[in-house]
Amino acid sequence: MSREICISSLTTIFDEAKIIARIDALASEIDARYGQEPLVAVCVLKGAFMFFGDLTRRLKNPALELDFVRLSSYGMNSFTSRHVIFSKDIECDILDKHVLIVEDIVDSGHTMRFLTDQFLARRPRSVAIATLVDKSERREADIKVDFAGFKLPAGFIVGYGMDYAEHFRALSRICKVEEECLVRPEQ
Ligand code: IMP
Ligand code: MG
Repeated sequence: MSREICISSLTTIFDEAKIIARIDALASEIDARYGQEPLVAVCVLKGAFMFFGDLTRRLKNPALELDFVRLSSYGMNSFTSRHVIFSKDIECDILDKHVLIVEDIVDSGHTMRFLTDQFLARRPRSVAIATLVDKSERREADIKVDFAGFKLPAGFIVGYGMDYAEHFRALSRICKVEEECLVRPEQ
């Protein structure tokens, strides 16, 4: 980061109360979909960690298992993720279980396309995506978001797990970074 972003460059767009209210509703939808069937919720580290904690603690499914992946993009800049690899895979068996991928943001959709394809090859009962923020207008890959917290047309956001150069993940609210404060690499 060649230019510091300070907290005054951030504008709150969803405060903690609004986030939690939305997650309550998502948890009810997810419980209604899966009932008591075997379900593995997979947190996409690091960005989804807060969303994952708040969402999964609200789920009532007694058959719920939790697991974690960490993905890396390579060969591109940090604002796109067309080429994706695992830096940490899940550890549990998903054969004949429902898989719910829990992501912070779906943007182009390439990350979710990669992960969905990887999991489908392991013959689960189903694979679905829950994302806190859906930038659906920016989609390039063919994927379906099953549960979306908030829709956002554009803009770069941080907080509630999401970062800019590893900063701001611990904020309990979601903020927009003012465009003039972003240092974008050459496209
Ligand atoms: P996709 O493969 O283009 O859908 O990329 C999604 C990933 O890009 C997310 O998991 C985030 O890590 C990152 N990302 C996209 N937009 C933002 C943002 O506004 N703030 C922080 N990270 C973002
Ligand atoms: Mg991410």
